[in-house]
Amino acid sequence: MEFVRTGIDGVDGLFSKNGYPSGNAVLVLGGPGSGKSIFGMQYLYKGATIYGEPGIYVTLEETPQKIERNMAAFGWDISRLTDEGKILIIDATTPRIQEADSDVVRSGLGMDNLIRNLKDMISKSGAKRVVIDSLSLMAFQSSDDFDMRTKLIRLSVSLSEMDVTTLVLSEARSNEIGTTVFPPETFLFDGVIWMMLDTNSQERRLAIRKMRGTKHVLGSYRFTIDDEGIKMKA
Ligand SMILES: Nc1ncnc2c1ncn2[C@@H]1O[C@H](COP(=O)(O)OP(=O)(O)O)[C@@H](O)[C@H]1O
Ligand SMILES: [Mg+2]
Repeated sequence: MEFVRTGIDGVDGLFSKNGYPSGNAVLVLGGPGSGKSIFGMQYLYKGATIYGEPGIYVTLEETPQKIERNMAAFGWDISRLTDEGKILIIDATTPRIQEADSDVVRSGLGMDNLIRNLKDMISKSGAKRVVIDSLSLMAFQSSDDFDMRTKLIRLSVSLSEMDVTTLVLSEARSNEIGTTVFPPETFLFDGVIWMMLDTNSQERRLAIRKMRGTKHVLGSYRFTIDDEGIKMKA
């Protein structure tokens, strides 16, 4: 089995093999501002710059321009990496899914379209890492829970066929690590990482709640976001 290094300071050490199994689709759950988007982009940035692995960022929330601007605060030149083909941003913020700089435009924002686009982009770019930001927004396009589940199953099965390691970011229903009933989508994924900002202690914490194929630490661990991005506290 191969193991993926996120490259995020202190995160890989939470797993006994210093990373988690390649090919896993991992759900990253957290409240607003908990650091999910930064975590996702840091995973792609480190993949592209340290490990030579191209990545794809599917954004349903913020425009690519805004993402690039926000990530520049950490010294990450995302637009250079997109120019070099090392990071592709699929803009799904508009009602059309389109590759950032090509004229391949397909109408619709549905799950099938997203999967088709992803497959295309992965085979063209040789991407090994994928981030979907976020599942919560995709959920709004479902008419009911059954429809949502069916779509999610299609997504998780397709991802497992695509030879990529994926982070799917999603809004958590509560800020409390471990005390909440897990949202139904968690069982569809190979792993669950929980991020939170404790409003009493003003501390950020991260916990690995599930990861198929590897042993990992239990409990939640402190992290910070500073001008180099996310870092686990020693
Ligand atoms: N340059 C920065 N330096 C330090 N902290 C930052 C910086 N940029 C953003 N943050 C922190 O990260 C939070 C946003 O993280 P983000 O990944 O967008 O959250 P989420 O996607 O979970 O909603 C902000 O609310 C802020 O607390
Ligand atoms: Mg976000």
